[in-house]
Amino acid sequence: MSAPRLRRHNILVLAVVALVLCSVALPFRSHLGEAAAKISGAGPFLHAEEEALVGDACLQSFPWIDSALITFFEKARSSARESNLTASEGLQALHKIRWGKYPPGHDEVSLLYNASTARVEMEIVKTFKPNAAHKRPCILDVLRDAVQRHSAALHALLGGRELRLVIETEDFPMTSQGKRLPAFAMCWEQHSIDIPIPDFTFKCYPEAKYTNTSWAEMAALIDHRSQMVGWDRRANAIFQRWWRGGATGGVGPRRSLLPALVQLRKEGRDEAELGARLDVEDTEFVASNAARFEWVDTWCNSKYMLHTAGFSYSAALKYRLACGALVFKVPSKWVEFYEPGLEAGVHYVELPPYEHEGGDAQRYVQEAAPLIKQAVVDTLGGTEVPEIAANGQAWALHNLSEEGLSCYWYAAIKRYAEIYFDPRGEEAEKAEVAAQDDA
Ligand SMILES: *[C@@H]1O[C@H](CO)[C@@H](O)[C@H](O)[C@H]1NC(C)=O
Ligand SMILES: *[C@@H]1O[C@H](CO)[C@@H](O)[C@H](O)[C@H]1NC(C)=O
Ligand SMILES: *[C@@H]1O[C@H](CO)[C@@H](O)[C@H](O)[C@H]1NC(C)=O
Ligand SMILES: *[C@@H]1O[C@H](CO)[C@@H](O)[C@H](O)[C@H]1NC(C)=O
Repeated sequence: MSAPRLRRHNILVLAVVALVLCSVALPFRSHLGEAAAKISGAGPFLHAEEEALVGDACLQSFPWIDSALITFFEKARSSARESNLTASEGLQALHKIRWGKYPPGHDEVSLLYNASTARVEMEIVKTFKPNAAHKRPCILDVLRDAVQRHSAALHALLGGRELRLVIETEDFPMTSQGKRLPAFAMCWEQHSIDIPIPDFTFKCYPEAKYTNTSWAEMAALIDHRSQMVGWDRRANAIFQRWWRGGATGGVGPRRSLLPALVQLRKEGRDEAELGARLDVEDTEFVASNAARFEWVDTWCNSKYMLHTAGFSYSAALKYRLACGALVFKVPSKWVEFYEPGLEAGVHYVELPPYEHEGGDAQRYVQEAAPLIKQAVVDTLGGTEVPEIAANGQAWALHNLSEEGLSCYWYAAIKRYAEIYFDPRGEEAEKAEVAAQDDA
């Protein structure tokens, strides 16, 4: 995949800020757990049920994880089965991947039980420079949480064996079909075998500009804000801030869709066609246009939000959902790890697909407008947060808690271990046969 290295230079300044933000070790706290408990009325989420959230048992609290991973691992499994490389050769093959002249940014990480600490320890074995320095530590810290929380279960899984994995730190997946091992990447795409995992924004997101930009802090702020601003007090507006791009003319669907929407607003046709006014602005690269910048929690002042992919996936979906806004989502070929857990019509309103690049925006707006308008008309005059918006909010706050993220990483490591140690799936097959014999 020829993905752009252009951003490497642009992001240097940002990277310094991010490094300062992220250099503090991150012990886990559970704002989200508390928020989720409030929503589900399930009582103290972390303390009473902590046991149940460790090892395989966590999958019962987060059933979406296993089904998402089954899909994500399908190609990685068949790819491993066809390869005759050893796991360590497989890792070397990942290190040899080039985008143009450069290897995509990635780290090789080792997981190994240490008898003197009686814990599975995570060690960074090798680093290939990421496009933005803050992404590395922030992605790796989500895994660190998971290794800490699930140490005993990982020990049971690994025994004394060492497991090595590659975690990519770029915006696009890197590994094509036929490779012995997948990498773990920030998003999924059907032509790659890489496994998507939580991206850096769960620990730090410098563009958001808060003193603490971790998802835990931002979600707690957004959740509080949304409870303080009742649905009927929110603006009858469809909101989006995005980077369309200057000299390069934009990124992804936003390149053509934003101008079409701005035009609709300028011609004063937005309310008639969509049922609510459009509040859409280009905040330029990494939100550098200060006049148009909006704090993420103030996004929640609008009833409706539009979600589109960016350069590749867009990390903004979870904040939009956490607002308890009704989210209009344009499907994208770039998929985040948690998206299979969300259901169209239950957690968000799905719009028709739109080409990542080169779509006909005028025609698209005509096609999507009646769907948007119907949902707006159905919900605009209500006093309570509409059901779909409330579902989306509860989903994001509960299922993307530290417990959820750690459970996802644990389950992903478990599936990865199957192909790492046994590429042909013989152990899994034997277990299946044994289960059939028992039955
Ligand atoms: C930001 O908040 C998170 C979650 O509450 C916390 O664990 C972390 O230490 C904070 N980070 C900084 C840099 O203060
Ligand atoms: C490994 O696979 C390649 C083609 O996929 C084949 O040419 C080669 O002979 C195989 N090597 C071994 C040792 O099986
Ligand atoms: C195990 O942990 C101890 C104590 O932290 C450390 O000194 C030692 O180097 C570790 N062993 C390995 C093999 O990493
Ligand atoms: C979390 O995800 C599960 C699906 O795995 C879903 O059934 C549940 O409703 C979600 N939790 C919340 C609070 O929405």
